[in-house]
Order: sequence, then C-alpha cells, then structure tokens
Amino acid sequence: MWEKVLAMAKRRGFIWPAFDIYGGMRGFYDYGPLGAELKKNILKIWRDYYVVQEGMAEIDSPNLSPEDVFRASGHLDKFEDYMTVCEKCGSAFRADKLLNIEHADSLSADELWEEMQKEKIKCPECGGPLSKPEPFNLMFKTRIGPKGKRERVGYLRPETAQAMFMDFSYLYRYFREKLPFGAVQIGKGFRNEISPRQGLLRLREFNMAEAEVFFDPENKSWPGFDRYADDEILLLPNTGGEMRISLGKAVKKGIIKNEALAYFIGLTRDFLLKIGIDEGKLRFREHLEDEMAHYADDCWDAEVLLSYGWVEIVGIADRTDYDLKRHMEFSGERLVAMRRYDEPKEIERLEAVPDFKKLGPLFKKDAKKVAEALKSMDPSALKGAVKVKVDGKEYEVPESAYTVKKVKKKVSGEEFIPHVIEPSYGIDRILYAVLEHNYNEIEEEGETYRILSLPPSVAPIKVAVFPLMPKDGLDSMALDIYRDLLRMGFRAVYDDSGSIGRRYARMDEIGTPYCITVDYQSLEDGTVTIRMRDTKEQVRLKIHELPEKLKEMGMSGGMRG
Ligand code: GLY
Repeated sequence: MWEKVLAMAKRRGFIWPAFDIYGGMRGFYDYGPLGAELKKNILKIWRDYYVVQEGMAEIDSPNLSPEDVFRASGHLDKFEDYMTVCEKCGSAFRADKLLNIEHADSLSADELWEEMQKEKIKCPECGGPLSKPEPFNLMFKTRIGPKGKRERVGYLRPETAQAMFMDFSYLYRYFREKLPFGAVQIGKGFRNEISPRQGLLRLREFNMAEAEVFFDPENKSWPGFDRYADDEILLLPNTGGEMRISLGKAVKKGIIKNEALAYFIGLTRDFLLKIGIDEGKLRFREHLEDEMAHYADDCWDAEVLLSYGWVEIVGIADRTDYDLKRHMEFSGERLVAMRRYDEPKEIERLEAVPDFKKLGPLFKKDAKKVAEALKSMDPSALKGAVKVKVDGKEYEVPESAYTVKKVKKKVSGEEFIPHVIEPSYGIDRILYAVLEHNYNEIEEEGETYRILSLPPSVAPIKVAVFPLMPKDGLDSMALDIYRDLLRMGFRAVYDDSGSIGRRYARMDEIGTPYCITVDYQSLEDGTVTIRMRDTKEQVRLKIHELPEKLKEMGMSGGMRG
C-alpha cells in the first residue's frame, strides 16, 4: 500500500524527494504545495487543542544549541543507536533493524551481536560480513562562531523539548507561579539516522510538536480530566496483554499511573481521530522498562497500523524531574517552583552563614550575590570549598568564607522541582498515516479511481470551481466565483482542463471535499451545483448562498470566515 500512497503523493505534489536533481538523499523530503498545506492544517488543529483548549503557551526557540545543553540533557552520552558496518562494501546499518525479533531496540551491543550471530545476519546490500555493533550518536554536530577562541561546539536539536526546560523560570513567572501549566513548541528536530528508510517514517530532519506540562509531583492531575475519562481506548500495558478500557477505569486500576498521562492519551486520541486517523487502527502501548528513553520513567506511545506494521506516531512520556534537575546541576541556576503553605511555618534548617569580611575582598561587587547563592544551596553540598554560579560566572568559595549553622526561619512554602509529562508528536509520521488511512482505490471499467477521504478541516484544497466548458461565458463566471471565494479566505482552485469527470477525479484524488460547477443553467438563473466528494451528491444553489453553505459544511473562510 505505501508504494501506492507515496506514488500518488509524489505525482500530486504532497511529498517530493529533497535534492532530487542531485540524486536525492535518504531521510530528507520536501513538502510540495499540497503537503505543506496539509501539514499546516494538521498543525492548526494541534494548536486548537494544545494552545486554545488547554491554554498552553507556545514558544519558538533556536534549532541550534551549544554543547552544554546536551551535556546536561544526557543526549551527548545517551542518544545513540547501535551501528554495524559491512566489512566488504562499507554500508552502515542500525543493528536492531536487521534482526527478526520484537523490541530489538532495547538490546545492548553484546546482546545485539549475539542475536546477529545466531540469526547469521549478513549485509543486506552485498551479503558481506558485518562488524560488531558500536554506539553511534544521532546528533548533528557543528561549530558556532568563527574559528579560534570564540568558536563553540553546537548541535542541531534532536527534540524541541529542551527549550521549555531551559526557559522554565520565565514560563513559571509567565503563568503567575501556578502549577500545572504547559508550554509547547512546534518546529524541526534533527537526527542523523544511520540508514533511514520507509519514506516519511524516519527522517533526518523532521517536524515535531511537543508539549512539556509541568506538575507538582504530589498532584499529577490536569483540569478537566472528565472530558476524556469515559473514552474507551485500546491499551497495551507493559505488564502484557491488551484491553479496551475507559481512561477513568485505567487510572483507578493503576494501569495508567496517573491522571495526567491518561488525560493526554485521551486528548491525543481525540486529536488523531479529528484529523482522520482510523480508530480501528489506533492503539496505545506502554514502553517496556528497557525500551524507555534515558529521561523517561514511563511512556505510552500512540501507535497506528500502517502497511509498514504498527508505527509510533506520538509518545507521551513522564520525564519526572529529570531534565530540570540536570539543567540545575549543569547550569547552577535554580529551576524550582514553590509549594505555598496556608499559614507560614517556623522551620529549623542547616544553612550557610557567609563571612562578608572574606567574601568582600574575594568577590567585590558580586559578594552579595555569592552570599545569596551560598545560602540557597542544599546544605548537604556545603563541604569544603564550594562552587557557586552568579550571572553565568562560576566562583569558588573557600571553606573559610562560610560556616554551616542551624537557623530558625519563618517560611511561607517549600521549594520543589516540578515533574514533566511530555506529549510529543511526530508530525511527518502523522501526516503520512493520515494519507494512508484515507487512501482508497476503486477499480472502475479497467481504471483505478482514487479517493482521499480527508476530513474537510485537513483537506489542503477545500473547494474547486469548474466551468462545465471553458467557453460561452461559463469560464469567466466560474473565475469570478473562484476569485470571490479566495477573497473570502477559502482555499480554492480553478480548473477548466479536460472533461468534467476527469476534473472531479483529480479533486477526489487529493481529498477536495467540494466541487462547484458553473453550467448553462447558471447563465440563466445564477445558480451553480456543488458536489460532495464522499456521496457524489450534487445540490443546486444560488451563487450568493455559496459562502454560507460552505461554512455550514464545516469549511472555514480563513481570515474573514
Ligand atoms: N521529546 C521526545 C523525543 O525526543 O522523542
């Protein structure tokens, strides 16, 4: 099936191989005019859920980040796949993808090697012997700045998520210091996949839409859980088996560990069905313990059945406090929230008491800030000379410049590191799944008739306008209607070439839900026909009734709609 879908997508301008005139390159695609429009429509609906319905804040951050970010995030050490190289032809492969066993991606290098030998795996290109798998970091490395002292190592981001963690304190203030809240980002991610195949499913540069939702770890609930609590969903928990169960019950029975994870499973399903994913080909599978990304404590994937098999299109992970903790450790900045008490409490705690006589001469104008940083440090870290960060500068405070004492304090709350639930959407995979789930072929009189049954809200072209014949004034009347629809903000096309049957067929193939035809009766009474893609039904109506009718059928008139 995927061959047919990709052939149609290429022929009609949804997806083109990038750099085609230079022979193309695996893992890179261009969206043509229809694909770019389809992607935009999917993202508009995604924003309707996350930004409008949930009130999350959208940010937009750089694709390129300095190395420090990924040292802290763990991607520098842990974001790798195991690569095996053919000793004869030099081709490289992802070792787990060559094996015929389930969850091979959770195996270690030694386990992979053992399986490869057991299955007698040879190079798929030339049949040559393959090397023992070695870890290969998937990030694209580059340089930031000119050569010399100012040059820094940088990486293209492998996920958009990190910006939301680094901006936590800004976001916390933006949300008036109240949890839970969510921040989202839509943008590119980059992964230097070892041998990408399968069209849009594994790209080296890809589109992501991610939400990072920050919680008090004592309360992982999200307002409005009732909205999805009764939805029955096909779940595959990592304890085995599969079940269709409501989200409310799944949380009560501990199958899904908290309400927040369940809520975003419900929202994800709602979104996917809205954009045209087939419910009968959708399930949610919990990761096995050893399958999880290095930052995740639990993860549920939305998987869809495609002609390639079951494919992950969304991951909903509990990243706990992993990322904020790591960024605190590596940057020295405090990325914490406050749990306020109803009444201030008196507490006794160990704290650094700075000796200003020593700090003053050592740190001059920064002495006060160094003292503050010392006081806010975790008392268990106050041993010997300690390092503190002030405005990005690191200072070493000698042991003689402070003492640790028990101090009594009135406090109005306590600090904690928030936990994060992350729904992360692979937009290219989702777009491909929407195409495949809505692609239909009918054999008619020896010809293949193709219909793309896209929901009108995601269809790239909403309405086509045809003159029955490109003459006798029918064409100028149709052009007027087409231009008026454009002016009103409808995504429309005009087409007068070939038979009317062929023109309907062209629109059915790209999923256009409505076609308007101007015929000889139109010249007499100012009416046109409007044809529905799915029923082939046609209704006749007055031209001035068109915008209303289109809106009634779920079309948005864009800016003025
Ligand atoms: N942020 C989720 C991922 O990188 O897959």
